[in-house]
Amino acid sequence: MCGIVGIASNKSVSANIVNSLKKLEYRGYDSAGLATLSNNLINEKKCSGRVEQLEKILFKAPAEGNLGIGHVRWATHGIPNEINAHPHSSEIVSVVHNGIIENSNNLKNQLEKKGLKFKSQTDTEVITLLLTEELKNKSPLDAVHETLKKLEGSFALGIIFKNFKDMIIGARRGSPLAVGYSTNENYLGSDSYALKSMTNKISYLDDGDICVLTKDNVEFYDFRKKKINKKVLLLSDDKNIAHKGDYKNFMSKEIFEQPIAIKNCINEYIDKSRDEINFYNFPIKPDSIDKIILVGCGTAYHSCLVAKYWFEEFTSLTVEADVASEFRYRNLKFNKNSLYLFVSQSGETADTAAALDLCKKNGVKTCSIVNVVESSIARNSDWVLPIHAGPEIGVASTKAFTGQMLLLYMLSLKIGNLRGDIERKYYQTKIINLKKLPDLLQNSLKTEDKIQLVAKDFLKSKGSMFLGRGFSFPIALEGALKLKELSYLHAEGYPAGEMKHGPLALIEDGLPVIVISPNDKYFQKTISNMQEVIARGGKILLITDSNDSVISENIRFKINLPHIEKSLSPFLTTIPLQLLAYHVALLKKCDIDKPRNLAKSVTVE
Ligand code: AGP
Repeated sequence: MCGIVGIASNKSVSANIVNSLKKLEYRGYDSAGLATLSNNLINEKKCSGRVEQLEKILFKAPAEGNLGIGHVRWATHGIPNEINAHPHSSEIVSVVHNGIIENSNNLKNQLEKKGLKFKSQTDTEVITLLLTEELKNKSPLDAVHETLKKLEGSFALGIIFKNFKDMIIGARRGSPLAVGYSTNENYLGSDSYALKSMTNKISYLDDGDICVLTKDNVEFYDFRKKKINKKVLLLSDDKNIAHKGDYKNFMSKEIFEQPIAIKNCINEYIDKSRDEINFYNFPIKPDSIDKIILVGCGTAYHSCLVAKYWFEEFTSLTVEADVASEFRYRNLKFNKNSLYLFVSQSGETADTAAALDLCKKNGVKTCSIVNVVESSIARNSDWVLPIHAGPEIGVASTKAFTGQMLLLYMLSLKIGNLRGDIERKYYQTKIINLKKLPDLLQNSLKTEDKIQLVAKDFLKSKGSMFLGRGFSFPIALEGALKLKELSYLHAEGYPAGEMKHGPLALIEDGLPVIVISPNDKYFQKTISNMQEVIARGGKILLITDSNDSVISENIRFKINLPHIEKSLSPFLTTIPLQLLAYHVALLKKCDIDKPRNLAKSVTVE
C-alpha cells in the first residue's frame, strides 16, 4: 500500500505535499515523511504515526524548497518507526516507494559487501543505495533505468536528486502511479485522489514506465527508455469529497449515506418507466455465457458470495466465488465463454488486480465492479460497471458493500432475463421491489438506538459468533469482519448449519451470538440452530423481519427489520451489523476511520 506524492513547482511545496498526504492516509497511516530540496541539500523530515504528527514537526522546523516528495506508509519490511518511515535518502538521492522489493535481501547483501551501510530495516533503502552507486557515473534517468533492471517485485517510486533542483523521477511496476499537470507546477501521485485538489488533468503510468517531471514539463519513457506519449485525462469534479459534515467520522456518514447511494445507483441503471435494467455492451453475449466467476478480497469477496446465491437463483449458470489471493495462484482452466467478474471498491487492490491480469493473459473477458472509475482495475477490464457510491473514506467498507451487492443483484437479474432463465414478469416484479430498497434501508437505520444498547454486551466478551444460512451466511461473514477490523474483538462468521460440526464447542455462558435470520426458506432451520446455541448459554442477538412470537423467548435482543422481498434481505440485514461494529468500536474508543494495522487500499500482496 503506501501513498506517494511529488511536486515540482516555482513556489514552496511542503504545505501542499502535507495536504495531499492527508488524502492518501487511506493507503497507510503508520508513519509519514517528506523530503524537499533547498540550498542544494536534501531536507528530510519523517516520523512514526499520522500526517498530523509530521505537520507538527514541520511547524517547528519547516522544510523549504520548490521541489519535494512525500509518503504515508503501511509497514511491510521493518516496524513502523521514524527510521523506517520514507523517504529513504542518501546524501545525493531521496526515494519514496510503494510496493515490495522481493529480492531486497540479495541486493542488500551485495551492497553490504561493497561496504555500503543500511540505516533502516526496509526493502526501499536498497533502491536508495543502488541509485547512489549508479549516480556516480550516470544521469538520473540512466541511473533509475539501470536500478529498475535489478529490482524484482512491485513498486511505484518517487525520486529526487540533490544535484537536480527541478527534477522528480517516477517509475512504476505493479503499483499504480499518476502524473498531474498544472501551470508552473507538475505532480506525481499514487492516484488521482491525491492530486485532485491541485489539478484535474492527469495521466497514468503503465507498468514499466518512467516519468521525468520538472515544474514546466513532463516526459515519459517506456521500460526500454524509449520516449512515449501519454493520454491526458480530465478528472470528474467531485466537490463533495471527503467532508464529514455533521458526522463524528466518515464511517458513520457512509453508513447513513447508504439509502442515497443505493438510490443513485438504481437511477443510473434502472429505466423506471419501463422497469428495465440498462446494461449494454456485454463482453460476452449472455446466451453464450457458460459460467460466472466472481473474484474479490475482504468485504468485496463477501459481496461475491452473496451474488453467488443470486446468480444461482436467477440464472441457470454455474457460479464460483473466490478470494483473489487464492484465485491468482490456482491452477485454473480458463474458458472463453466464462464471464470473470472482479469486485473492488478502490479498484487498486493488488491481489484482485493480479487476478484480473491473469485472466487477461489467458485471453478471457473481464468485467469489473468498482467504485473508483479511474482505478487500475477499471482501466484494465473489458467492461466496467461503477457502483456510483461516491468516495468511501472509512477503512471499513460500508456503502461500497451495499453498492457492490446492488450491482451484482441487477447483473444477475439482467443476465437471467436475457438468457430467458427467468420470466419477464418475475424480472419486472423484482425491479419494482428493488425500487423500494432506499426507503427500506432508511428504516433499517432506525435500529441504531437499540444497537447502541446491544453494543455494551460486547465490551465484556472474549469473542462472538455470527450465524446465518443462505444469503445470510455471507452477511454473517461480513458482520464478523466489520466487528474484527473496527473493535479488534475476535468474531467468527459461520453457516448456522455447520455449528454442530465443531464450532458449537465454543459456545459458553454469555458468549454473544448474532443470528441473522430473515423470514426466508431457511428461517425455521436457523431458529433451530439458534435454540441449540441458547441451550449452551449463548447470548442471542437475533436480526430478523419475522414477527413470530415464539422466537422471542430466551433471546437477549431482537432487532426487527422492515419486511422486504426475500432475495433483497442481505441489504437490510447488513445495516444493524455495520452499526453494531461501529458502536462497539466507539465504546472501546477505537479509531473508527483508521483501524490499527489496516489501510483502505491494499496495494501489496
Ligand atoms: C473492508 O471493510 C475492508 N477494509 C477490506 O476487506 C476491503 O474490502 C478489501 O481490502 C478489498 O478492498 P477493495 O474493495 O478496495 O478491493
